[in-house]
Amino acid sequence: MKKYLITSALPYVNGLPHLGHLIGCLLPSDVYARFLRQKGENVLYICGTDEHGTPSEVGAAKENMPVEDYCTKYHNLHAEMYKGFNLSFDYFGRTCSEQNKEIVYRIFNELDKNGLISEKVTRQVYSVDDGRYLPDSYVMGTCPHCGYEKAKGDQCENCTKVLDPIDLIKPRSVISGSENLEIRETKHLFLQLPKLEKELTEWIETKKGIWPDIAYSIAQKWLKEGLQERGITRDLKWGFAVPKEGFDGKVFYVWFDAPIGYIGITKQWADEQPSQRCFEDWWLDKENVIHTEFMGKDNIPFHTITFPATLRGTGENWTEVSMLKGMNYLNFAGGKFSKSAHRGIFLDDAIKEFPADYWRYWLIANAPESDDSNFSFDQFATTVNKDLNDVLGNFINRVLKMTVNNFGQNVPPMSVITDSEKELYSTLDTLIETYTKHMHALEFRKAMSALREIWVSGNNYLAKTEPWKVVKTDMDYAGTILNTALNLIRLYAQLSAPIMPQTAQQMLDLFEISDEFVWPNLKMADYLMKIPTGTPFKLSDPLFQKIMPDKLSELKITYKEDE
Ligand code: MF3
Ligand code: ZN
Repeated sequence: MKKYLITSALPYVNGLPHLGHLIGCLLPSDVYARFLRQKGENVLYICGTDEHGTPSEVGAAKENMPVEDYCTKYHNLHAEMYKGFNLSFDYFGRTCSEQNKEIVYRIFNELDKNGLISEKVTRQVYSVDDGRYLPDSYVMGTCPHCGYEKAKGDQCENCTKVLDPIDLIKPRSVISGSENLEIRETKHLFLQLPKLEKELTEWIETKKGIWPDIAYSIAQKWLKEGLQERGITRDLKWGFAVPKEGFDGKVFYVWFDAPIGYIGITKQWADEQPSQRCFEDWWLDKENVIHTEFMGKDNIPFHTITFPATLRGTGENWTEVSMLKGMNYLNFAGGKFSKSAHRGIFLDDAIKEFPADYWRYWLIANAPESDDSNFSFDQFATTVNKDLNDVLGNFINRVLKMTVNNFGQNVPPMSVITDSEKELYSTLDTLIETYTKHMHALEFRKAMSALREIWVSGNNYLAKTEPWKVVKTDMDYAGTILNTALNLIRLYAQLSAPIMPQTAQQMLDLFEISDEFVWPNLKMADYLMKIPTGTPFKLSDPLFQKIMPDKLSELKITYKEDE
């Protein structure tokens, strides 16, 4: 049996996640993991926090904490928020774990043995007053091209030109503002990507038409420009010490140890139950593992070029990415999310405002797949009010009430089957096939429009058969209609579960049968008869609440949508 390894890009531990992070990789990977589990597949779903590097050191200094404690604090906050959104990781680990260190060293040593690591003296900006080297983006100054005064040393935000910190006029430290900067020579290790270029080019060629266009074309763009050797060490404290003579006081670059973190975290998971789990089953059994990676588009080069090169260079048979999903960005009312400006919705606030499933549904239905997309409260409210309340919630309420009023709280018998039912079966068979196909292809927007159509077909069925009239003339057929409609609720629970797990559970729990989430694998002519006649069911409070205009105005002000 094939094994499905699913990874979500590992969020930086410093800084709290917002809706953009949720839809960028965390939520789609969760939906996919849940979908495959429901199909009975063997799934391992891994995520964790990406912890090393300058931002953590700077963050810890600001909060006056040792960097280890700072990372633990934020790791826990991430974990708690993701729990609130019901992200179903098999393990949520950390890139700073002992396990990751072990794998990073193992991979580094292999690369070194294979002659793929070289040394070079580089010139880096050193801030005397901060007592540290500054990464390019921590140097700020005036852009030599456009005169923008807050240009960062890696790129000018104003004219988008790529910069070298040495180019900046009046450079200063982002951390302290100090202008007392020096250029110092310092020795670093580089991964020889050019030596792997041919092999990578051939491999990536095989992904044409398999990886989504955005991933394939970004990888091709890098290859066309020619691969450069890449620095894998830094002059910092917070990271894994470089295990090589002459490199005391240096650590691996965060982008070297972060993707290896997928393996390290799998080992954290395995080490919890060593008699039953082993990370090699997932990472050194390439032929039997399908690895699907989820990430924001800015992460694509690391996942298509540098990380695969790192693994290949070892000569070992590490699992490679089979499929990847790169998301565009979600903007907030046309601009960026900003915690410091209290603009946009961060996950801690989101969950206080509405149940996780409202967000999950909206985000997946509006995923920034082919282009960047935009969050606005108006759109959010429209979706919640229409799709979730008018279409799905209302269907459930009507069916339950109508059945209780005419048959009591037990599933009525199904006796006569007419063309209306047959038409419903065939409509649904087609729609479910389409929905399933889009889920497999990670086409989430298309999947959600199929799901919506599936919900709508229930309402259409009621509109056509008019059970409220039939109960007056033909109780046998009325029983058939309501039995079918109750079975539809169960079907909807199953099909909605990957996206709205909590609501789906409530829907399934309406019926007093033992049932679990299993993807429908029968034709509807059989499937929609599965709840035994006479099964008791519950009446529930409405599953969704509408978002009213006064609440909407309040939200827009609180989260500064119009600013
Ligand atoms: N922390 C990075 C980001 O948020 C993603 C790291 S993905 C990994 O952009 F593979 F490197 F872990
Ligand atoms: Zn500029």
